[in-house]
Amino acid sequence: MVARDGADVDKPRGNEYEYVTEILDYGWHNTSSPGFNMRLEQAFAEKFGGNYAITHNSGTGTMHSCLIAAGIGPGDEVIIPPLTAAATALVVIHQNAVPVFADLDPDTFNIDPEAIRELITPPHSGNYPGGLVRPLRRYESHNGNSRGTRSGSD
Ligand SMILES: Cc1ncc(COP(=O)(O)O)c(C=O)c1O
Repeated sequence: MVARDGADVDKPRGNEYEYVTEILDYGWHNTSSPGFNMRLEQAFAEKFGGNYAITHNSGTGTMHSCLIAAGIGPGDEVIIPPLTAAATALVVIHQNAVPVFADLDPDTFNIDPEAIRELITPPHSGNYPGGLVRPLRRYESHNGNSRGTRSGSD
């Protein structure tokens, strides 16, 4: 396979051999011995201007961590698309929260922002589902379609 720049993407193009050798030379003491995870996290945070980054082993684990970071817990509702992997709903249930499906945009098959808006309810108590509001704001600003700031904590 050939990339846009004409390079053969089936072959290593960077430091792959060096890194594999580094790991093999280190031995099999534990999964983080040569510090590759930490190096990836630091490089990622630097590249994207964040204070830190956290690696995960799967999309499921990543989504679960995001829910925990957003404070999602028992009684919260999390609006998700219906056309997705089962894990999207399962991680919500794992937090003892309730997945709520918003309809799709029939042209893009992506979640419809208007359908999300209709499903947003006032916070029940305690945990405010801030995770629901942030993606909506981001969607709006990416599309130059901001309708102002929503009320509630974020
Ligand atoms: C949209 C979506 N979310 C979550 C997942 C789960 O990711 P993983 O298998 O890495 O846990 C998948 C997997 O295909 C996916 O397609």
